[in-house]
Amino acid sequence: MSDFFSGFWSIYIAVISLGGIAWCIYLLFSQRAWLKKDVEIVENTGHVWDGDLTELNNPVPRWWTVMYLGLCIVALGYLVLYPGLGSYEGQLGFTAGKQLQQQQQAFNERIKPVYERFQAMPIPDIAADQEAREIGQRLFLNNCAQCHGSDAKGGRTFPNLTDTDWLWGGEPEQIMQTITKGRHGMMPPWKAAIKPAQASDIAQYVRSLSGLAHDPLRIVPGKRGFDTFCVACHGAEGKGNTALGAPNLSDDIWLYGSSAATIIETILEGRDNRMPGQEHILTPEQIRLLTAWVWGQSN
Ligand code: HEC
Ligand code: HEC
Repeated sequence: MSDFFSGFWSIYIAVISLGGIAWCIYLLFSQRAWLKKDVEIVENTGHVWDGDLTELNNPVPRWWTVMYLGLCIVALGYLVLYPGLGSYEGQLGFTAGKQLQQQQQAFNERIKPVYERFQAMPIPDIAADQEAREIGQRLFLNNCAQCHGSDAKGGRTFPNLTDTDWLWGGEPEQIMQTITKGRHGMMPPWKAAIKPAQASDIAQYVRSLSGLAHDPLRIVPGKRGFDTFCVACHGAEGKGNTALGAPNLSDDIWLYGSSAATIIETILEGRDNRMPGQEHILTPEQIRLLTAWVWGQSN
């Protein structure tokens, strides 16, 4: 597999690598005076410095030439075995990716015994176990904190994992599914169907669902719009749907914000949010411990 988008660069690199070695060999050949056995001709260049320092033209030492030749041969051998000539993969089939995978596998084998104790334990028991909690926290800090925060309380567009409000459900199986496969929270944009004025009415109604200040005169048209366009995902009372990742709109927890302007933006432009799946990064045992740790934050 090549990372180059054009075959030209592969050839370019191969030519430079081989050309460099060929040039070295040519240089050594051009300085081959030492091959002439026993003849130690020392030419005098005729340059004289400071009256009595004469400049000689000694041939390159033999050991130096042999060492250099040896290096050229090692380089050629390396280029045959390992990738170094553009897209040529090398006889050994070595790739940095494969090496990383092998190291990861070896590492996972090594840490297996640590996780064995938790294999058959139910999630709530793991969540209560001191050692498991420490491992879970370390895993979280290394793999999740960059998005969800080191206290797991999230931020704008990143859900808080320590409360009891869940986009995708807070049962252990649901959390495990979220971590393993990832989630794609998608709300389609409505600007083709909904005019800004109507979106503004709906936003007032949405704010009323969670008891926020709103314009009472716009609740009736707002509710009409909500019932037409929004209930399919957010439910008749705006309580959300964990099968679709549609948030509960009737609580005071907001992924994007509760201002009328933000809600209007959500309605017109839609939202697209991804939680990356971890199954290629973490082992099932690690995901189990993380699940328990996350579950334990709110239980
Ligand atoms: C690149 C950023 C990113 C990383 C890294 C990340 N997450 Fe997430 N996570 C998100 C986003 C964004 C969402 C919300 C998805 C949505 O809007 O539907 C999410 C959602 C979740 C949810 C569902 C919350 C709910 O309310 O249902 C859980 C649980 C979760 N993440 C746990 C984790 C764990 C555990 C890790 C570490 C292994 C992790 N996440 C790593 C971005 C991330
Ligand atoms: C196809 C399903 C679907 C429909 C229909 C839909 N939504 Fe959503 N909505 C979602 C999803 C999924 C999210 C979460 C997006 C994310 O995870 O980033 C969301 C997010 C939101 C948010 C952000 C909530 C927060 O916590 O910040 C608001 C507000 C919202 N929707 C209002 C509406 C309104 C009003 C309508 C009707 C005009 C509507 N939605 C129609 C699926 C839907």
